[in-house]
Amino acid sequence: MNGREPFPELTLRPFGHADLEGTVATFKRLSRQSLYRRFFTLMPDPSPFVARHLERVDHRDHQALVVLDRHQVVAVAQWDRVPQSPEHAELAMVVDEAWQHRGLGTALARAAAGDARRHGVTALTASVLAENRPAMRLVLRHHPTTAEADGGQRTYRFALDKPAA
Ligand SMILES: CC(C)(COP(=O)(O)OP(=O)(O)OC[C@H]1O[C@@H](n2cnc3c(N)ncnc32)[C@H](O)[C@@H]1OP(=O)(O)O)[C@@H](O)C(=O)NCCC(=O)NCCS
Repeated sequence: MNGREPFPELTLRPFGHADLEGTVATFKRLSRQSLYRRFFTLMPDPSPFVARHLERVDHRDHQALVVLDRHQVVAVAQWDRVPQSPEHAELAMVVDEAWQHRGLGTALARAAAGDARRHGVTALTASVLAENRPAMRLVLRHHPTTAEADGGQRTYRFALDKPAA
């Protein structure tokens, strides 16, 4: 991304207001299954919820990173600091269906973890549905330090290295 392998043609950047429409459109294009796997609830029109979440992005406690293929947003990662535990953040992400299974989710997860670490986050959690095999496999490849089960939901925690001084 940003000229580097594995996706030199794609642009990764922090979400800006100019990305709002394109990012909401990405969520609107998703299948019901991908939406359910992202939000854990049926969401016929995710636009208002997504727009509200993006309005909170301040690049400090609430972050969103977008990946663009020319002008189209094709993936979004969001991390939000936990208010009671500010060194800890929750990560969620989505990749446009046309781009899934090519390694983009893996690359974006790595970029989001690096971004969080640079903002002083020392632990990330990611919640996924146990039936969500692609997300479970992605998460388990990254060696979570702890795992918690709550019904059909699994929450994994990852320790992040401190950035080099
Ligand atoms: C979970 C999600 C983000 C993964 O994104 P992705 O871009 O498909 O992820 P990757 O491509 O990195 O990995 C998925 C699979 O593609 C495989 N893959 C990676 N590079 C590949 C390539 N070049 N060619 C073929 N397959 C490849 C990976 O090995 C992986 O396979 P595995 O699951 O059998 O190990 C995506 O499925 C998604 O957006 N789902 C809906 C929302 C969601 O579930 N979010 C997670 C909870 S917040």
